[in-house]
Amino acid sequence: DWNMPDYIAEAVASIRKQVGSDEVILGLSGGVDSSVAAALIHRAIGDQLTCVFVDHGLLRLDEGNMVMEMFAENLGVKVIRVDATDQFMGHLAGVTDPEAKRKIIGREFVEVFQVESGKLKNAKWLAQGTIYPDVIESAGKGKKGATIKSHHNVGGLPETLNLKLLEPLRELFKDEVRKLGVALGLPHAMVYRHPFPGPGLGVRILGEVKKEFADLLRRADAIFIDELRNTKDESGESWYDKTSQAFAVFLPVKSVGVMGDGRTYEYVVALRAVQTQDFMTAHWAHLPYELLGRVSNRIINEVRGINRVVYDISGKPPATIEWE
Ligand code: XMP
Repeated sequence: DWNMPDYIAEAVASIRKQVGSDEVILGLSGGVDSSVAAALIHRAIGDQLTCVFVDHGLLRLDEGNMVMEMFAENLGVKVIRVDATDQFMGHLAGVTDPEAKRKIIGREFVEVFQVESGKLKNAKWLAQGTIYPDVIESAGKGKKGATIKSHHNVGGLPETLNLKLLEPLRELFKDEVRKLGVALGLPHAMVYRHPFPGPGLGVRILGEVKKEFADLLRRADAIFIDELRNTKDESGESWYDKTSQAFAVFLPVKSVGVMGDGRTYEYVVALRAVQTQDFMTAHWAHLPYELLGRVSNRIINEVRGINRVVYDISGKPPATIEWE
């Protein structure tokens, strides 16, 4: 089957052969895929790689600092951090359609990349953490010929950037990408993090994206993840390990609640946790009621602005994993 040292040696040789002495630019999103791609390419060509880490304001709590610590400080990878929150929020204002939001986020990434790659005069290649399921789902048309979902990290970029495309993970499934990451020396907890979509919280805030919503969602999501990680069974596995993806979703509807003597009228957060092998189909996770209760109490008590928490019990199909 799959021999990891051989695979790495071959991938490294192939990357070196492909890019020669050219410089490569890679968009680091903080997710598993682009992180593993960065580590692999850095292994192959070292300082010929420059990563651009775009903070679109739709990342998880404290994610930006964690990415910089892992890559710039620990691995010595060249990383340019760009805070583009205002730019993204500005362009997303008033936009409610999910695909329109994805397109805007994808387009703004191209914008930021054009600016950054313009500064890197010698960059000839654009590296991306595209994995096999992305390739199928984006290229694959539904039965009626409609694109299922447009993944912003597949296609579109090279034409406008005038860069050649380097996608070393294109043939790998998620579990293979994770094993590769560990073998390349990335921290286990990072590599076994749940995947995070390129558009980030942009597809987890239903309808119009606002910074205020993102700030509430980030805090609710961090509580959920924290509680999932804090449950360990006899084998040492937590509910975080036992789920493939878990996150909070912001619903821009208000409902009535009571707090002390007062009436509240605040937003709703939905929790989503799924188990899946390939992300093409998924079951909702049967999380213990005590755990759900703890998460709900903490979110409502700690995140002012949220007064109701619901749990998503939909499978894929017919629902998708993300809500948009
Ligand atoms: P769905 O929601 O289609 O998600 O069931 C399947 C997997 O893909 C991720 N996903 C995305 N990843 N850009 C990405 O990079 C996207 O636009 C995107 N949409 C969904 C999702 O998080 C899940 O892991």
